[in-house]
Amino acid sequence: MSGPRLSTQNLLTDNPELYEARFPDPDRLAGRWAEDTLRRYGSGPRVLDLGCGTGRDAAHLHRAGRTVTGADLSDAMLSYARAQHPGPEYRRADLRQFALPGREFDAVVCLDSALLHCHTNAELDGFLASVRGCLTPGGLLVAELRNGAFFLGRTELLGAPRVDGFMWRGVAYESTTTLSVDRTAQLLRRTRVWTSDDGAAPVEQRSAWRLLFPQELRHMLAGHGFEVLALHDGPGPRSEPAWREGDAPGSVTDADRLHLVARLNRPDLPVTSGRTRQGHRHERHP
Ligand SMILES: C[S@@+](CC[C@H](N)C(=O)[O-])C[C@H]1O[C@@H](n2cnc3c(N)ncnc32)[C@H](O)[C@@H]1O
Repeated sequence: MSGPRLSTQNLLTDNPELYEARFPDPDRLAGRWAEDTLRRYGSGPRVLDLGCGTGRDAAHLHRAGRTVTGADLSDAMLSYARAQHPGPEYRRADLRQFALPGREFDAVVCLDSALLHCHTNAELDGFLASVRGCLTPGGLLVAELRNGAFFLGRTELLGAPRVDGFMWRGVAYESTTTLSVDRTAQLLRRTRVWTSDDGAAPVEQRSAWRLLFPQELRHMLAGHGFEVLALHDGPGPRSEPAWREGDAPGSVTDADRLHLVARLNRPDLPVTSGRTRQGHRHERHP
């Protein structure tokens, strides 16, 4: 593989090998947590990993004996997943609205805030309607995401830019990251400036995640026929302290990560709230 391209939409998701190097998970903590959660709530074997990224969690679930489909919007991620984490079937899909004809799943997993790429209520409705459309009755939605409520009264992640540096294939990279809250759009916005010592011009990249609140999430899920079986801030794969085998799900939603397990009890419910094509924005994903 050649070196990463600085002039991309997102240095990390456009360079999946680099993404895994920056966010290593050698013990497959996220995959093990997902598998443990699926077992705990009695999921059947067919799993869709939405926003599967490099495919490492999908491949872990595959090795655990499940029949896995990984879906992502990034062609770079999908190519990497097919080559480096074989086993699952990998498909291109936009989680904000998708259909996988001929496929039915016992569970949909959506890890590391992939669900928060739905920025608007219409996109969230599109996501939930699409998940409903591919889940078997009684199927599970398992998600792990940032907790919007964490930012109520807390500013520790906001304001001052954070500078990180790392070496990759002989080039020194530095990122300066600034997070801010857009209260009107209910988004956490990130501006990240990349510099490198190989002569490339600095690149500014902008991303955003929906700030979803636990009660808001419960309300949307109920409207789509889901029963919430668990919603808590940890332990999970990215919580502090992190989840370990044998840990039971928590009961509060105060810290910065949410862990959701919801069961589709009413697949017959009509979709009502604002799921329109006009409302379906196609911003570039981070
Ligand atoms: C933070 S990564 C998480 C990847 C993986 N789930 C993990 O936990 O390692 C978010 C992923 O969501 C994907 N993504 C962003 N917007 C998307 C969309 N609208 N539809 C599908 N995938 C999307 C990105 O390409 C990226 O692979």
